[in-house]
Order: sequence, then C-alpha cells, then structure tokens
Amino acid sequence: MATLTDEINRRRTFAIISHPDAGKTTLTEKLLLFGGAIHVAGAVKSNKIKKTATSDWMEIEKQRGISVATSVMGFNYGDYKINILDTPGHQDFAEDTYRTLTAVDSVIIVVDVAKGVEQQTRKLMEVCRMRNTPVIIFVNKLDREGRDPFEILDELEAELKISVRPLSWPINIGAKFKGVYNIYEHSLDLFTPSKTQVTERVEIDSVDDPRIDEAVGEKDAAKLREDLELIEGVYPPLDVDRYLEGKVAPVFFGSALNTFGVKELLDCFVKIAPSPRPVTAEERSVSPDENTFSGFVFKIHANMDPNHRSCIAFVKVCSGKFERNANYKHMRSGKMMRFAAPTAFMAQKKSIVDEAYPGDIVGIPDTGNFKIGDTLTEGENLHYKGLPSFSPEMFKYIENTDPMKAKQLEKGIQQLMDEGVAQLFTNQFNGRKIIGTVGQLQFEVIQYRLLHEYGATVRWEPISLYKACWIESDDQAALEAFKKRKHQFMATDREGRDVFLADSNYVLQMAQADFPKIRFHFTSEF
Ligand code: G4P
Repeated sequence: MATLTDEINRRRTFAIISHPDAGKTTLTEKLLLFGGAIHVAGAVKSNKIKKTATSDWMEIEKQRGISVATSVMGFNYGDYKINILDTPGHQDFAEDTYRTLTAVDSVIIVVDVAKGVEQQTRKLMEVCRMRNTPVIIFVNKLDREGRDPFEILDELEAELKISVRPLSWPINIGAKFKGVYNIYEHSLDLFTPSKTQVTERVEIDSVDDPRIDEAVGEKDAAKLREDLELIEGVYPPLDVDRYLEGKVAPVFFGSALNTFGVKELLDCFVKIAPSPRPVTAEERSVSPDENTFSGFVFKIHANMDPNHRSCIAFVKVCSGKFERNANYKHMRSGKMMRFAAPTAFMAQKKSIVDEAYPGDIVGIPDTGNFKIGDTLTEGENLHYKGLPSFSPEMFKYIENTDPMKAKQLEKGIQQLMDEGVAQLFTNQFNGRKIIGTVGQLQFEVIQYRLLHEYGATVRWEPISLYKACWIESDDQAALEAFKKRKHQFMATDREGRDVFLADSNYVLQMAQADFPKIRFHFTSEF
C-alpha cells in the first residue's frame, strides 16, 4: 500500500502562467490530452471544459467570454499525480492568479516567440521570485515567424531576472521550422507542418550523428551544431538544485498548437519539478509528511448555483491526509468543522472524495464561513501565511442606491471581500467606503454580483487616487501627527490598519520626505 511519503513524492502541483494569448489554454489542453484527462483536441479550446466545468459558475463569464474562474485539473501521468491550477487569463484578475501561486509548488511560464516577455509575465514572475517558486519556461509558436532563440534567452534572463538553461533547441523557426533538438535526452523531433500532432523522432547518439544531416540537411545541421556549441559554452549544465531554489529556469521550445515539444516538456517536468514542499506557517515550518492534516484556503469560488448563495472554498492540503467527515479546526473561528461532501477535481470532473494528500486541492462547499487565507488543522494552532494584498491600481467610492437594501449590501460587500474579489478601505474622515481593484472589470463584477446574489444596487463614484499605502512608525507621536495632517486621506483596511491614500505620486513623495519617521508600505504584509 502506498504510504503518505509515496503519495507526496508522486504529486506535482503547478500553474501555467503567461500573458494572455501566449498559449496557456492550448498548452493546458495538450497536457490534459497526454494525461488522458480529455480525449479530443479542442475540448478546452472549444470551451467545452472551460465553459461547462468552470465558466458556468459565473454568468458574467458567459457574457464576456473571459475565464474569471480559477479551477483545478487533476490527472495521472505514468506514476505521477498532476494537479494543474488554472489561472484567469485576464489581467484584471491578476490578484486571483497571485493567490493561486501560493498554492503551487512550481510553475510553467509560456512565452510567445514573436512577442517575447510581456507585461503580465513580468509581474507574475515577480510573485514567483518572492516565494522562490521553481519555473520552467516554454517558448511557444515556433511554427510562426518569431525572434532569434538566443535573443529570446537573453530577454528572458534580463526581463524575468532569472538564469536560463535551454534543454531543447529549435531548428529554424516559422515557415522554415524543421524540428527541435532535445538537449536533455539527445534526440531529434522532426516537425511536419501539415500533420499536426505527428512528429517523427530520430534517435541519435550525439550532435555529430550524420543522421541529423540526413534528417534536416547539411546546412541546418551545421547551424544546429554551431548553436549547440555556443549553448554549451555559455550556459552551464542544468543544476536541478538551483532550479528547485528558483535560481535557474530550464527552457523548452515548441508549438503547443501542434503538440510539438510538449511531451518533452512534460516528461522533463515530472522528473525535475518538486513534489509538495514544506510550507511556512507563522508558528513554524510544516513538512508535508507530518502525520496530522493541515491546509489553507487560497481561493473561494462563489455562486456555483445562483439559487443558493453557495461557494466552494479551495483548500490546498499542506500536510498529512485529509479525510472526509473528520473533525478539523477552523483556526480563525476556533470552531471544529466536519466536511461531508468535499470534492476533488480529476479529469475535469468534480466528485466527492474520501481522502486527499499534500499537493491536492479539495473543494469544500461553504456558505460564508471561509475567508481567503484561512487555515484548517487537526487541532494544532497553525496559521499559514498567504500572499499579502498589493496596493490596488484603481479606486472608486461605492454608494448604495437602494436604502431598503443596506443590510444586504453590507453582507454582500463583506462576502466579496472575504473571497478576495477586491479590497475595501473606509475613509477615516467621512466614513465613505472605497473599493480598490486591479482593473476596471472587477468593478463590473462586483456590481453584477451584488445585484444578482444579494439584490443590492450600487453606484460607483470617482475618486482620484494614485496609491494606497499601509503606514506604520515606531514613534507613536509621529504617526498621530501624520494622521492628523493627512486626516482627509486616511483610511482603514478591513483589519483596521492605517492606510494613507495618496492622490498623486508627487504627494506621496512629499509625504515620504516630510515624514521620515513614517514607513510607507505598498503591500499589506510588512
Ligand atoms: P492563452 O490561453 O494564453 O490566452 O492563449 P491560447 O492558448 O488561447 O492561444 C492564443 C492563440 O494562439 C490561439 O489562437 C491559439 O490557437 C494560438 N496558438 C497557441 N499555440 C500556438 C502555436 O504553437 N502556434 C500557433 N501558430 N498558434 C498558437 P486564436 O486564433 O486566438 O484562437 P483560436 O480561434 O485558434 O482558438
């Protein structure tokens, strides 16, 4: 019988991240195909999975065709149990993606060979760096015209601030793309553009093997040898420990749409990517192989059924074995809870699960008990650290337009904030509520959900703000003096912490210069 350690060692829990359109959905689908989790190409793309399993959860997605949801796709590949945590592609929901990154053990970054590193990728990489998350990079769309691969490698290093090491290498790109040389395993895969998904593998002994010349022609073979020599000269061999520390990223080249280079990526991924690692709680570091269960909520998915105000709390199992109907302590409330219908996510299907292991994600039906970041344990006092909130990019006053529905509105706002949809600040001067978001779309989602789930109607009123900064000082008198001077611009966040609302970069800089005893923070944890 498999032991807890066996179960942990075979798990790979990760997320695929990219700038929209680089090919995340296509790559996800191809990985699911390899895992037998889906059987038709296009199942994800044609939105069968996206729209039924995940996107139906919120009607707004149907209207907008944007995947607001973050869902989980589990499947077996060989001896491995793989959990892919999907992230919303739209950048207005970036905060959702940041939180999902707290629940993964590694990530695969998809980059478009023509576009290189784009803005969203840069931001997501920053979050990975904060946690030293190991990353593998897949350079996609080699079947299209794009940039020189060496140039891409330089850009990856410069823009993502991580060392890279190519493990496969393309032979030409675009119309002349002939295939990929697998540096990791010394084999050559030939690309046949007309026959998608069919690749011919040429087994070779080394780069000097004449079979390469036969397969791609002398000229391209010579260029390949030249490139590989340069690679070996410039990039040290992959040091897996440095990859696991998040210091170096292996790079693969391919075409997700043509299933080219994807299997190589997956095979290498399962070999080197980490199984669940120890997780840091405020009290101590918790190892996955500890006997007692613990986990945390990283995502709350609302409104599975619009008729009931039900949610699913996504719990990442961090240690021990999770069991259905066992008694677990909800740390924030101190209450013991039992879960009769926890669900697992295998091959696109959601089904009741009796047990789950570290690395797995369990969905727990909920009616408002959970908040993002909540910890569950068998009884020990542990608090897992979530990701801090970042200072929002956009701010609006939220105003009630139906006085009869004040209570519903209050409840709705609290619940949406618990889910982490946006951040709420209350102005200390006039008591008005300010919602801070990453993008415009979130305001629309909030308005829509308040109406459809809580029957509350709201109006947004503009407020011109540049940043919200959490402030603190060792000098209480200095803090009070600052708050007094800036009283119109002081707010409190939901935890009651002082937040300074700066209406311009200039004002912020002046405040920093005038009040040297005050520390200004742009994330909520310091
Ligand atoms: P995303 O989730 O990162 O946003 O990207 P997605 O997979 O949806 O891919 C974005 C577009 O890029 C899609 O085209 C997809 O077919 C295309 N694509 C993905 N991988 C490759 C590749 O290897 N080569 C080429 N040439 N194209 C690729 P679309 O026209 O936006 O969508 P669709 O109408 O084809 O579904």
